Amino acid sequence: RNLYGDERLNSKGVNLPDPAELQALVSGMQQASLQPWRAGPIVSGKAIAAQAMSVTNPANRSEVIGTVSVASEATVDAAISAAVAAQPDWNSTAAAERAAILLKAADLYEKHLAQLVAYCVREGGRSIPDSISEVREAVDFLRYYAARAEEGFGKGLSLPGPTGESNELKLHGRGVFVCISPWNFPLAIFTGQIAAALAAGNSVIAKPAEQTPLVAARAVELLLEAGVPPNVLHLLTGDGASVGARAVADPRIAGVAFTGSTETAQAINRSLAGRSGPIPVLIAETGGQNALIADSSALPEQIVLDVVQSGFNSAGQRCSALRALFVQDDIADRVLQLLAGYMDELKIGDPADISTDVGPVIDEPSCSVLGAHARNITKSARWQHAEEMSVELQRRGSFFAPLAVEISSLAELTREVFGPIVHVIRYRAEDLDKVIDAINNTGYGLTLGIHTRVDASARYIASRVRSGNVYVNRNMIGAVVGVQPFGGRGLSGTGPKAGGPYYLHRFATEQTITINT
Ligand code: SER
Repeated sequence: RNLYGDERLNSKGVNLPDPAELQALVSGMQQASLQPWRAGPIVSGKAIAAQAMSVTNPANRSEVIGTVSVASEATVDAAISAAVAAQPDWNSTAAAERAAILLKAADLYEKHLAQLVAYCVREGGRSIPDSISEVREAVDFLRYYAARAEEGFGKGLSLPGPTGESNELKLHGRGVFVCISPWNFPLAIFTGQIAAALAAGNSVIAKPAEQTPLVAARAVELLLEAGVPPNVLHLLTGDGASVGARAVADPRIAGVAFTGSTETAQAINRSLAGRSGPIPVLIAETGGQNALIADSSALPEQIVLDVVQSGFNSAGQRCSALRALFVQDDIADRVLQLLAGYMDELKIGDPADISTDVGPVIDEPSCSVLGAHARNITKSARWQHAEEMSVELQRRGSFFAPLAVEISSLAELTREVFGPIVHVIRYRAEDLDKVIDAINNTGYGLTLGIHTRVDASARYIASRVRSGNVYVNRNMIGAVVGVQPFGGRGLSGTGPKAGGPYYLHRFATEQTITINT
């Protein structure tokens, strides 16, 4: 039995070293790219026609990969009306039946893996290995929440009846959930939020990031094909400030599942607090100021391997990514020397090329923000190393070369820097508590890395740093569904953890039925 609590296994993805599997993936991706890609609002199973705009490839801004049309205010309102009307029946559908639909969707995602990978690569700028992981994670979310729903939402919980009455506790969907997902996991997080809300008996308004509507639209098609009733799941494309904000402000919605920036989560929270109607629930998973503490007992080679993966994989565009490496002064010079050497080996380029290590960042505005931060932070840096990148690549897409920079204190980072920049801070052994305080004082609490060969140190640091996910002597990204439930605290989010046993409960309301027998 595995951690799902049953015989099911996590999705296997593709065995890339196997030439036949790799070839099947590549030809499937090419096949997928021959078809026109379109996204737009889908309400009650129908695509709503509206003026279409081009979607371009972040690795090649002259390449149009598809078109998107945006939901009007009337479309937002119509989708919510349909979702409100459909929710009671969906909630009354047996949990096992809802779960069976999600399991069917998981199979369809696996069947169309190459196509979904192509979308993640060309629309999201994600590398091929990252994109495969993304499909696997989406599949895992579908299967995991299906299993949790069958377990917790089927039969009610029988409670003692000391006075001769029978007592039962049942979980129900809350109503309509608005699921607002980010561009950095345009398939996995998009699917995870929807799967959880549906599994728990809610109807869903899905609002993907405006940068990645195409893969979201394909995912909704597959969910509908799997049997999610069309009135229960609606897709609204468009930006957060208009489409997302209108959906959130509607007094008929019961809750919001949001993954994105802390600032946007706070804005959603204010909007929910200011509206009339029932008190809604907000599940927010936001950013981090994630640190890794490496003491002088740790192996420099292992530290550097994990720093590169944690800081530069996905071009640093993961909420779990490493932002601040605290390295004990005794080994700092050695670590920085190895880090610079390793960075020079990373291949920056088109994510459609299997050998690419670092693809583009999502768009030009992201590139500009990173550039401004890099110019500012390197002014007074004690040490820095940036990878070389060709001018041609910079002209072609929104590429940002990985950068490592030594700064004197974490306080120099006033906000999350969402890209391939690792800040390095030296510390002395006697200052470990000050390091821990500095990390806690950021107010964020998402991921923490620890590198040490002293077990007691690892336990001490893990117990003092207020962080949702702690990784010891390994990289600090790529939490696996059902294995490393993921999510933070403080400025990093509300919880509960995605891919964990308590996630669905937050999407549910409870009912106690007492019968005088
Ligand atoms: N769950 C992702 C990771 O662990 C981040 O969103 O990297």
